[in-house]
Amino acid sequence: GMKIKSASESRSPIKIGHRGAAGYCPENTFASFHRALLLGVDFLEMDVQMTKDGELVVIHDSTVNRTTNGKGKVKDLTLKEIKALDAGSWFDSRFSSEKIPSFGEFLDAFGGKVGILLEIKNPSLYPGIEEKIANELLKRGLTSLEGPQVIVQSFDQYSLKKFHQLVPSIQIGVLVKKITGKGISDQELVSFSSYASFVNPKITMVSKRLISRIHQHGFKTFIWTVKNRNEVDFLRHYHVEGLICDFPDFL
Ligand code: G3P
Ligand code: CA
Repeated sequence: GMKIKSASESRSPIKIGHRGAAGYCPENTFASFHRALLLGVDFLEMDVQMTKDGELVVIHDSTVNRTTNGKGKVKDLTLKEIKALDAGSWFDSRFSSEKIPSFGEFLDAFGGKVGILLEIKNPSLYPGIEEKIANELLKRGLTSLEGPQVIVQSFDQYSLKKFHQLVPSIQIGVLVKKITGKGISDQELVSFSSYASFVNPKITMVSKRLISRIHQHGFKTFIWTVKNRNEVDFLRHYHVEGLICDFPDFL
């Protein structure tokens, strides 16, 4: 199995492909995930939301407007309606056959083959999404500590606590971004530690001090989103456990 070493054990951060390889392919599509694998990622980062008819799908925005040829909220469209959309042409016409993957299709293709960094996106819009995600993982045996791991992350702490109670064997990451000048307080770090193993900050808030505080509280950390080689170079000195990158070959 893939063990995630702490920064003191290992110098080079693990490679995580953001929405697959979002710099090269339409994000969160099979084309993007396959490209990320070709580029040697350890984990695929992806986003999960829920359709009107309660089906889990892999998409970042709460609407299909930006990344497909359709319009509307994910939660107002059925899986059938979502499956009819072209999820590739917005990026480049050669990707016109790409579809929004269902979560089941994604897991059938990649589960157990590579690590999965699963973001529960906008869970407050989708009551019950945590149970559905847990069931899909459990029925495929993807919650065990053997083989490539699934790690679940979100900005929504309530959702993460709920997921941790449902599947305690899966490691949890709290996504954090700075809210107008405010960093992460010690009190917040202590509160995350009852359910999370990772604290994953936005790159713009990263400092050596923040990384050392995260480590002192016993967390590992993945940084998002790395978009250029300069960022990879400066982050080398920070001893973080992983980098979430649009261009996984930069890592
Ligand atoms: O993996 C973290 C990162 O993906 C969170 O931001 O907007 O790209 O989902 P976003
Ligand atoms: Ca994400």
